[in-house]
Amino acid sequence: MKNRQVNIGIIGLGTVGTGVARILLEQKELLTTRSTLSFNLKTIAELDWNKDRNLDLSQVNCTTDVDELLNDPEINIVVETIGGYEPAFTFISKALKNRKHVVTANKALIATKGMELYKIAQENGVDFLFEASVGGGIPIIKGLREGLVANRFESIYGILNGTTNYILTKMHRDGLEFDEALKGAQEKGFAEANPTLDISGGDAAHKLTILSSIASNSFIPFDKIYMEGITGITKMDITFAQSFGMTIKLLAIYRAYKDGLDLRVHPTLINNSHLLAAVSNELNAIFVKGDFVGDTMFYGPGAGERPTASAIISDIVDLSRDLLLQEGEKYCNRAISLTQNVQLIPIEDVTSRFYLRFMTKDIPGVLSMISGVLAENGISISSMVQLESHEKDNYVPIVLLTHEALEKSMERALQKIVKFDFVKEDYLRLRIFEES
Ligand code: HSE
Repeated sequence: MKNRQVNIGIIGLGTVGTGVARILLEQKELLTTRSTLSFNLKTIAELDWNKDRNLDLSQVNCTTDVDELLNDPEINIVVETIGGYEPAFTFISKALKNRKHVVTANKALIATKGMELYKIAQENGVDFLFEASVGGGIPIIKGLREGLVANRFESIYGILNGTTNYILTKMHRDGLEFDEALKGAQEKGFAEANPTLDISGGDAAHKLTILSSIASNSFIPFDKIYMEGITGITKMDITFAQSFGMTIKLLAIYRAYKDGLDLRVHPTLINNSHLLAAVSNELNAIFVKGDFVGDTMFYGPGAGERPTASAIISDIVDLSRDLLLQEGEKYCNRAISLTQNVQLIPIEDVTSRFYLRFMTKDIPGVLSMISGVLAENGISISSMVQLESHEKDNYVPIVLLTHEALEKSMERALQKIVKFDFVKEDYLRLRIFEES
């Protein structure tokens, strides 16, 4: 680093990359005041230069050739904002091997290939930071790694996906249909290039993998996280939830028990009195309980150009301070330690209260048959609602709320209930959130 100038290269000028460039150009003085360093956006590699991004890039080397950036010895920090697995993995590995620090928001890549990339970073004496990968602009990773470093984490739960929260908010508040609400999230730039990742719970599970690995100091395999998405939720379920004084949210949950970690992502009914019920649109919120600090809440914009770029810049400034330290000093690694081995508790062994919605024929005996199967499996009903039939085919919704039950008992009961010929196959089972 010459004259305290940090040279930065950005790969990908999409929503997030544009935000990073904007901050580097528009907040230059502020960043210097706060860090005593000068940040120079040297090169941007992007394939599509026709799009108008409302940026003055006259002082920036704009190229379509990523190697120009990766092989430039003057570039200290590479920001990867193309997302996805490839070519992002290849570009990041190459940058690390060329001894450049890397900053990314690529949660899918970190959740699945994070260990590999860390190894490459360590072997090459550089660092790899990803604050923007979870919670957009919320400093949750720094919160866990730095602010709450003194704590063992008992629970972490919250809303980690802006797109699904936006969709559910619009369904709750404006009565929108799922598809219409998803379109809105896509137009606003919250959704992934492939929105299936959002609505299947995959994006939230990527983020939970990252937070859980940091919180437990162990490498959590992404494919071991139980996940369910929000595609089965209809306007009818929203109306039922509202009638029970609850809101449906896609929650990511981490709970540490003596015998292991309970990790899952699924739509959840949450009491309207809980602060999470009021977290709307693309906003994210994460509750963290540490053994010394107690309960904390992190809240803010979980997606979008400016918040995500804000988090990326915080990593750039951190790394730049390390660059100063490194001058004449030994490599100072801030990589998290993932040395512990933890057990994951299988979903079958978790207990929850449940919301069950069946579409059944309106004929005598239906309720007693369903409640009989639940009782056989040790599941007790706490409330029940049945609506009158307005459909020609005479199917009516029956909604049951249960007391706490084991997942495997519920699964056994559901397998049996859907075999009744008076029950339609597309039932909905949601968990009801309870504070641990
Ligand atoms: N698709 C993601 C979301 C973007 O909706 O939360 C931010 O990670």
